[in-house]
Amino acid sequence: MKITVLMGGTSAERDVSLASGLRIAAALRTRGHDVTSLDTAQGVMDAGTERAMLAAGVQQAPPTLEALAAMSRRSLSPTLGTLPVVREADVVFLALHGGQGEDGTIQALFDLCGVRYTGTGPLGSALAMDKDLSKRLFRAAGVSTPDWLMAPAGAAEVEARLGYPVIVKPSKQGSTVGLTLVRTGADLAPAIAEAFRYDDEVMIEAFIAGRELTVGILGDEALPIGEIIPKHELYDYECKYTKGMAVEEFPARLDGAVAAMVQDQAVRAFRALKLRGYARIDFRLSDSGGCFCLEANTLPGMTELSLIPQAAAAAGISFPDLCERIVRLATPDGRS
Ligand SMILES: Nc1ncnc2c1ncn2[C@@H]1O[C@H](COP(=O)(O)OP(=O)(O)O)[C@@H](O)[C@H]1O
Ligand SMILES: [Mg+2]
Repeated sequence: MKITVLMGGTSAERDVSLASGLRIAAALRTRGHDVTSLDTAQGVMDAGTERAMLAAGVQQAPPTLEALAAMSRRSLSPTLGTLPVVREADVVFLALHGGQGEDGTIQALFDLCGVRYTGTGPLGSALAMDKDLSKRLFRAAGVSTPDWLMAPAGAAEVEARLGYPVIVKPSKQGSTVGLTLVRTGADLAPAIAEAFRYDDEVMIEAFIAGRELTVGILGDEALPIGEIIPKHELYDYECKYTKGMAVEEFPARLDGAVAAMVQDQAVRAFRALKLRGYARIDFRLSDSGGCFCLEANTLPGMTELSLIPQAAAAAGISFPDLCERIVRLATPDGRS
């Protein structure tokens, strides 16, 4: 098949997306596909550029907001529907993370232009990107999620309704960017201000002490659960993208009944947001055994350290097979 892998973009997760996209492109080539790599910020990548970017890897911190803003002024995104490498592809593999790749706008543009793409459509993408709306739908579907408030909220209100500690985070970001663990009311306002740098909606959520779990969904089935044991207290940007900063166990060491419950919650969450193809659902498992859904990721990382590739491997699915299945799920046959 002719496949164009879309990557890069101008969100805070740009570097992660480049790492995912290049790896996907290489895997699909090993399956004999005719693959083009397209950075939505800079254009089609030649083999030399691909090699240089692959070697650069993901930095310890995301690119600055200023650097991203400069790139976004030159972004190709508005013209994507007219580019021959997009229009002539049998399937566009979306390896963007965050921002316009993940919020459903590019998916809507492709629907308008009749371009076939991997994963979830515009509605599900937008819902999953918005943690506040996601959590309302989770609750309606019987998926438990931590209690939360939206900013503005004062320290006393947070104390009364949630109790400390709380997590303050942008409602529509990823990669733990702009997120703070707040232990006392005095630290609330600066954390809210930090989160507002990244989003116009900020969430204050009850902190769930316990274990960090993640469940990949492929097709409409849950893959083996993963447990993440980060070196920092939170699974932050550095732990997510630096080798050795987190231990990941697939399958997670869980009692069979607990594992079945978490997988069931993950499938329910996937359906509640009308997701398609594949996704990764993040959970906290509290010390008292309750499982709380944090969010769904419709364009989960596909770097060598990423969780979905590890979950697939635990199910006996190699990385090229995983990419191939995601592509097939985007074709009319794969969906039926
Ligand atoms: N309510 C919470 N309780 C405990 N830890 C949390 C909570 N919310 C977020 N975290 C921590 O922050 C990480 C990122 O939060 P998440 O909601 O998954 O946002 P994203 O991954 O989109 O940045 C989680 O993986 C977890 O380690
Ligand atoms: Mg997450």
